[in-house]
Amino acid sequence: MHAPLRIGLAGFGAAGQAFLPALHKHTGFQLVAVVEPDAGLRDIAKLQCAVPVFESLTALLLQPDLDAVYLATPTELHTQQVIECAKHGKHVLVEKPMAINLSDAQAMVAATDAARVVLVVGHSHSFDAPIRAMHSWIESGRLGAVRMVNTWCFTDWMYRPRRPDELNHRMGGGVTFRQGAHQFDILRLLCGGLVSTVKARTFDWDPDRSATGAHTVMLDFTNGAAATAVYSGYGGLSSMDLGFPISEWGFEQTPALRSWARKPQSPVDPQSELKAKQKRAAKAIPACAPFQPFFGLTVVHCEKGDIRQTPTGLRIETAKGTEDVLLPNDQNPRDGVLIEFHDAISGKRPALHDGRWGLATLEVCEAVMASSASGREVSLHHQTPTPSET
Ligand SMILES: NC(=O)c1ccc[n+]([C@@H]2O[C@H](COP(=O)([O-])OP(=O)(O)OC[C@H]3O[C@@H](n4cnc5c(N)ncnc54)[C@H](O)[C@@H]3O)[C@@H](O)[C@H]2O)c1
Repeated sequence: MHAPLRIGLAGFGAAGQAFLPALHKHTGFQLVAVVEPDAGLRDIAKLQCAVPVFESLTALLLQPDLDAVYLATPTELHTQQVIECAKHGKHVLVEKPMAINLSDAQAMVAATDAARVVLVVGHSHSFDAPIRAMHSWIESGRLGAVRMVNTWCFTDWMYRPRRPDELNHRMGGGVTFRQGAHQFDILRLLCGGLVSTVKARTFDWDPDRSATGAHTVMLDFTNGAAATAVYSGYGGLSSMDLGFPISEWGFEQTPALRSWARKPQSPVDPQSELKAKQKRAAKAIPACAPFQPFFGLTVVHCEKGDIRQTPTGLRIETAKGTEDVLLPNDQNPRDGVLIEFHDAISGKRPALHDGRWGLATLEVCEAVMASSASGREVSLHHQTPTPSET
């Protein structure tokens, strides 16, 4: 049996803390250190993780025997930090969106290629069991070719506490970069990966909180499939009201149970908003859930049948009738990310969500913004195919 890979976690915020259960669960990883510049969060990390906690990534990278780093830091830091990790020969798992623009993402791929280290971009909701199972059904060919996939998600993303950069699309903020990264990953996984063109409109309709808060996106794929991604983060109707009352992370959330932010408490000063975000981070993304994660309604249409999620799995409709498929829920999507990362490092199988995959998804995010600004359809040039998972 091989020794576990020694991994450091940089950024002890919402995404970083959400990974702790998966890191503890995967026997192939040993969490050996945390990096967090905020003193208060460093104290919490020391108590929770019982490992050394550093103020800077540079200090972590000086540690002997470190194999890998998980970067859960603000998006605008990803490029420089991935390059720094690669220079030290460390494998990197970086949060989505991969970077704030395509040329930065290209520099990350070049740096990790040159250093011969693994780069994985995740988590995204394409790791959710129902989405993976949809992909398996499509790949099996039992329903014929995939023709159309539509994914709709309505949340209160805009009104949750945020750092200012999270609302600035030039820094990878707003719903197209932050939430579109999930949706475009899902659509690319299910439709073959190769987006040919994007036509989109983005919206910024709350003058008190200016940011890209909604989008409607049409994607054409080279294999003839077409897809839409619709998102509103303005805290109105929830996609749970359209599908079933199960939250993004798999918990029952009827309207009465929903702590839905319809507006930030205003005026919000950046310091109190940061404190509110830090407080929320500890519980923002729970690990174990009774139901499957539900990041909005995703409906797949193939030539011979349709697929959609249910709280416990999938429903397949064909000429033969309705089939409900129960999926195991003993695995969190982040467990899947770590399995993919570990398998790629150990040479078992290449990562699906590698740097080039993340770059292609980021290209879609950029194209959405460009199409909305110009009113034109945008052609894509850096797409990668969905690898077979069988
Ligand atoms: N996959 C998901 O479901 C998911 C969910 C939330 C966020 N994210 C992504 O994770 C990243 C972080 O977002 P978040 O919401 O967790 O933000 P956050 O603000 O909650 O956490 C980021 C943490 O990084 C720390 N940090 C800042 N500079 C640093 C540095 N130089 N080195 C180390 N740490 C540093 C901050 O102090 C903060 O605690 C973003 O890219 C975001 O898109 C992904």
